[in-house]
Amino acid sequence: MAALVDLRSDTVTRPSPAMRKAMAEAEVGDDVYGEDPTVKQLQERVAEIVGTEAALFVPSGTMANQIALRAHTRHGDEVIIGRGAHCWRHESGALAALAGAQTSMVGTDGRFTAAEVRLAFKAVDPYQAATRVVAVENTHNMAGGICWDRTQLAEVIAATHELGMLAHLDGARIWNAAVATGATEKQLAAGFDSISVCLSKGLGAPVGSLVAGSRALVKACHRFRKMYGGGMRQAGILAAAGLYALEHNRSRLGEDHANARAMAEVLANVKGLKVDLGSVQTNIVMIDLERGTPDAIVTPAKAKGVFLGTAGAMRIRAVTHLDVDRAGAMRAAHVIAELAATL
Ligand SMILES: Cc1ncc(COP(=O)(O)O)c(C=O)c1O
Repeated sequence: MAALVDLRSDTVTRPSPAMRKAMAEAEVGDDVYGEDPTVKQLQERVAEIVGTEAALFVPSGTMANQIALRAHTRHGDEVIIGRGAHCWRHESGALAALAGAQTSMVGTDGRFTAAEVRLAFKAVDPYQAATRVVAVENTHNMAGGICWDRTQLAEVIAATHELGMLAHLDGARIWNAAVATGATEKQLAAGFDSISVCLSKGLGAPVGSLVAGSRALVKACHRFRKMYGGGMRQAGILAAAGLYALEHNRSRLGEDHANARAMAEVLANVKGLKVDLGSVQTNIVMIDLERGTPDAIVTPAKAKGVFLGTAGAMRIRAVTHLDVDRAGAMRAAHVIAELAATL
């Protein structure tokens, strides 16, 4: 059988031999005591890339988002979130359960405007939740990896600050957004009060995210990291994978975008499927079915060695990454096209 093509997510990559070597050779110490030199190096490197005073290494993107939002809010506060955002949809209700915050959902495809922020903002009075934070996701996962327009982003951040709120960026895939738009990560992160980034998505590290911002924000997040169980000991082994990923796997993300595009162009011409090519801007392809169910494609595709995800009642999601080459992406496209004919 041909090699397996796993398009369920860009989190399924396995560390390469060179990355494993960097991990094995990492200098380590107890990071809960603040003594791991490799973790410190990674934190400094990420702060430098996104242009913040400091950054903090945490086990997951979920923890990075949740401790930042926790640091920005008090119980009973409100967070404005773009529809379908990861920090609302896929983080097990943590915002409500752990931060005690409620959410106000805006926009339609993950993006929203400054006018929508102004409309959603609630004036502080005894009868309403205090709206404290606006959370942006770039690229936006569930909207198909789309990138925010930088003017729109600047307007949203300006409105947020004008209203006395803080702006949080879920930049799990900020690296993809930078490659796709030609802007630097620092430009895309500018103006945000907190930024979360992931090393274990397109960059191919096995574990790890960071939350970046001012020294004061990172100090507050440090306490919540410990409270949420994210203090790690000889974490330099993991940080070394992150440093390796930043150095070697960031600039190649364009290959994943090109593979996603090639796959999408085949699928856009298949009867029974709908692919919005305009939204295929990075490494995610959303495939809408005109009839049938995702299962009718996902299950037989798996038997043919092509693993896909579902993203709704009539939607399949395919994500390209480091461990999928052009031949694999094209094979997947042809398997999906063949199965679509049977719907
Ligand atoms: C946009 C976005 N933010 C945050 C996360 C959470 O990352 P983790 O799985 O490391 O908790 C993900 C995971 O896929 C994501 O897509």
